[in-house]
Amino acid sequence: GGSKPLAGRRVLVTSGPTHEPIDPVRVLANRSSGRQGHAIAAAAARAGADVTLVSGPVAIADPAGVAVVRVETARQMLAAVEAALPADVAVFAAAVADWRVAEDASQKIKKGAGGPPLLALVENPDILATVARGANRPTLVVGFAAETENVVENAKAKLVRKAADFIVANDVSPAGGVMGGDDNTVHVVGPAGVESWPAMSKAAVAEALVARIAEVLGGAS
Ligand code: C5P
Repeated sequence: GGSKPLAGRRVLVTSGPTHEPIDPVRVLANRSSGRQGHAIAAAAARAGADVTLVSGPVAIADPAGVAVVRVETARQMLAAVEAALPADVAVFAAAVADWRVAEDASQKIKKGAGGPPLLALVENPDILATVARGANRPTLVVGFAAETENVVENAKAKLVRKAADFIVANDVSPAGGVMGGDDNTVHVVGPAGVESWPAMSKAAVAEALVARIAEVLGGAS
């Protein structure tokens, strides 16, 4: 309770996309504005937490009262996250690229007679799963799941597969306008089941999630 329910807590948040280089001028990236993750970092700071935000490339301002670490790639994000541990809570809101180009070219790839380049991809590390199964596991690990179908079912599977405590699932079908938009409709999947929250602003989702986190942490210090 109180106005600073996360006072004395360390909170780590990932946000934004990652950019995986193809060559010096091209990247492979996910669509992500960083708005939801940044709002969570801001809300956690307002709740009194000591917050580190590890962010991929975004066009929005740094949240107030938060230490921001900027990265480009998934591997850089993992390294920055591991450097920011230990933490009481980690919220993984970044849209990490699942793959990177096996070997990015040192010079710009030219159009030409050879036809379009074939890009061999390799899988990126899963930052959430690595941290959730790691020696420095935070007390509370929260993931996100952006889905376009079977939203809750996919989130339940992700909770188990990634060893998270909560998965915040949202429907990002193009018709919903969540991508880049102000509002979000989420389902919070946890050990005790699913809470479906009404549509609200990303700022309100952040506030409610931080309140929920404070509640779960409770006296556990
Ligand atoms: O499997 P999927 O990418 O849908 O999982 C989404 C969740 O996992 C998000 O919390 C995201 O931040 C996290 N994630 C991650 N590292 C990855 C892929 C996803 O931390 N390489």
